[in-house]
Amino acid sequence: MSVVIRGAKREDCAAIHGLIKELTEFEKYPEGVKTTYEELASHGFGSRAFFYCKVAETTESNRGETEKKIIGYGLYYFTYLTLEGPTVYLRDLYVASAYRGKGTGTALFRAVAKAAIEEKCAVMTWRVFDWNKPAIELYQKLGGSDITKEEQLRTFCMKGDTLQKVASESAF
Ligand SMILES: CC(C)(COP(=O)(O)OP(=O)(O)OC[C@H]1O[C@@H](n2cnc3c(N)ncnc32)[C@H](O)[C@@H]1OP(=O)(O)O)[C@@H](O)C(=O)NCCC(=O)NCCS
Repeated sequence: MSVVIRGAKREDCAAIHGLIKELTEFEKYPEGVKTTYEELASHGFGSRAFFYCKVAETTESNRGETEKKIIGYGLYYFTYLTLEGPTVYLRDLYVASAYRGKGTGTALFRAVAKAAIEEKCAVMTWRVFDWNKPAIELYQKLGGSDITKEEQLRTFCMKGDTLQKVASESAF
């Protein structure tokens, strides 16, 4: 089995969507994935790209047939820090459970870091659940710093009706 890391294409979105579902289950999000794979394709490969993605693809030979399969992905987007300039936010990093521990997660992480450097980003940021010790270990091994305590920043969010209400109300 060989593994190649490459940029995702629109036609990969069904496979990526399947892996997003697996990550959502792994991270125990109660509501699950709300977008369809068609929406994912349009968000990533439509007139405006809301995200970019690297995929890990295996090639396996089975009785003379060559089969390709997407086994992992790193989904990211470009953001901007007023103090630092362009940055990359790594939204998801995931490798299907049967393929873990063989360097694929590290290779995906490095591919996203390379994309960050190519776009002259000074910083790459991501979040990880406090309970996800194996992933934290990987990030520490790669040289990532846990800035949770030093920055003392709270993450706020606004959804659905609240977002609609705030957007539609007049401030003056
Ligand atoms: C974290 C994850 C992407 C790493 O992918 P991977 O292909 O196993 O990573 P690598 O083989 O490059 O590196 C393995 C390292 O990751 C860590 N690791 C995390 N989960 C692991 C697992 N289930 N099996 C083996 N190693 C794991 C170990 O520190 C390991 O280091 P080692 O090889 O020196 O022992 C993958 O385990 C995964 O998808 N986990 C579930 C989802 C997740 O936690 N995503 C990150 C959310 S922030």
